[in-house]
Amino acid sequence: MALTKDEIQLIRESFRMVSQSNEQAADRFYRNLFEAAPETRHLFVNDMKTQGAMLMSKLGLVVAQLQNMDALAPMLEDLALRHVAYGVKPEHYPLVGAALVKMMSDMLGDEFTPEAKAAWINAYNALEMLMVSTAYRD
Ligand code: HEM
Repeated sequence: MALTKDEIQLIRESFRMVSQSNEQAADRFYRNLFEAAPETRHLFVNDMKTQGAMLMSKLGLVVAQLQNMDALAPMLEDLALRHVAYGVKPEHYPLVGAALVKMMSDMLGDEFTPEAKAAWINAYNALEMLMVSTAYRD
């Protein structure tokens, strides 16, 4: 599913604003995730500051390449396979998506417009579909 130019621009602008407070954004994301889905907490064994930095940096890469999902696919497929090894299950993906969108909304308040929110949901759904379908086929 290709994103429109407008969606990509909304995602880039909103991510750029959030990534000025990278550490706070990552903390917020994990707080949202562990509040909504405490069962995912035990999967994270390494230092959460390092983990948060890796997450934001990977998101930055993805956001920068959104206009060409095909070029991103091999990287995302590898990432998805590593996640199987971390104990991540397909049903965790929507929980992470919701925590991510809530983080954007928490960080940006009214600046996170309904259009930007819808664009993030579309983009995350595309990532989720790609990652889950490659990592969990029998
Ligand atoms: C768009 C989706 C996602 C992105 C971009 C992402 C990004 C990352 C990155 C960059 C890492 C660092 C290690 C590596 O590169 O292999 C990582 C590790 C990890 N992620 Fe994700 N992730 C995503 C989805 C998920 C989901 C759905 C879960 C489920 C709870 C999850 C749980 C974890 C865990 C448990 C680790 C290892 C933490 C540790 O070593 O302590 N991730 N993720």
